[in-house]
Amino acid sequence: MQLFIDTADIAVLKALAETGLVDGVTTNPSLIAKSGRQFIPTIAEICELIPGPISAEVAAIDAPTMIKEGEKLAGIASNVVVKLPLTFEGLKACAHFASQGIMTNVTLCFSVTQALLAAKAGATYVSPFVGRLEDQGADGIELLAEIRAVYDTYGYETEILAASIRTPAQVKAAALAGADCATLPPGVFRDLVKHPLTDKGLEQFLSDWKGTGQSILGELG
Ligand code: E4P
Repeated sequence: MQLFIDTADIAVLKALAETGLVDGVTTNPSLIAKSGRQFIPTIAEICELIPGPISAEVAAIDAPTMIKEGEKLAGIASNVVVKLPLTFEGLKACAHFASQGIMTNVTLCFSVTQALLAAKAGATYVSPFVGRLEDQGADGIELLAEIRAVYDTYGYETEILAASIRTPAQVKAAALAGADCATLPPGVFRDLVKHPLTDKGLEQFLSDWKGTGQSILGELG
C-alpha cells in the first residue's frame, strides 16, 4: 500500500521524507491556503523533495479552464498529478489528460457511482473521502471496499486513494478494504509507528542491556 502525505507544509514534508516511507503527496486549495505560500513554487519544491506522485488541484469549475490550469500544473514536473473535482466538467478534463498520458487524481468522491465514472474517464487515482463520510455517520471504509469490488469486477486500473483519513485505525481498515494508497495528515503518519508495548519492550531491553555493562561498538569483532 502506498502512503502519501496530505500537506503543503515543506518543513513537515522534509522531516517525514527522511523516513524513506513517503510515497507521494496530496495537496488541495485549503492546504495551500493554510501554508500561506504561493501555489506553483510550493508544488515545484515538493516535486523535487519527493520523487513520487504529487497531486496539485485545479481551481476552475469548467473543463476548458481546468485543462489550461492542469496543463500548467503538469508542466511543473513530471511527477505532478492533476487533481480534478468529481463533476462532469472535472471528468471531461480527466478524459482529456488521460488521452495525453498525464496523471490525474479525481477528488471529492463520496459514492461508488462517482468512482465508476472516474474510472471510465481514465483517472489514475480516485480519492474517496473516508473521514468526511464518517463525520456524517456514513461508512467510508465500506465505500472503499465497494469501489474495490467494482473496479476488480470490470478490470479498471484506476487506483483507489483513501483520502480524508483521520486515524491509524482508518489506515488499517483502508488497507484491509483493498485501497491501493492512502493520504494521511502528518500526525496520522507519525502515529502509525506507535504502540505502547513497543515503547515498554524497548525500555526493558535497554535497561537489561545497560545492566550487562557491554557496548556493541566497543566489542572486538
Ligand atoms: C485529499 O486529497 C484531500 O486533500 C484530503 O484528504 C481531505 O481531507 P480533509 O477531509 O481532512 O480535509
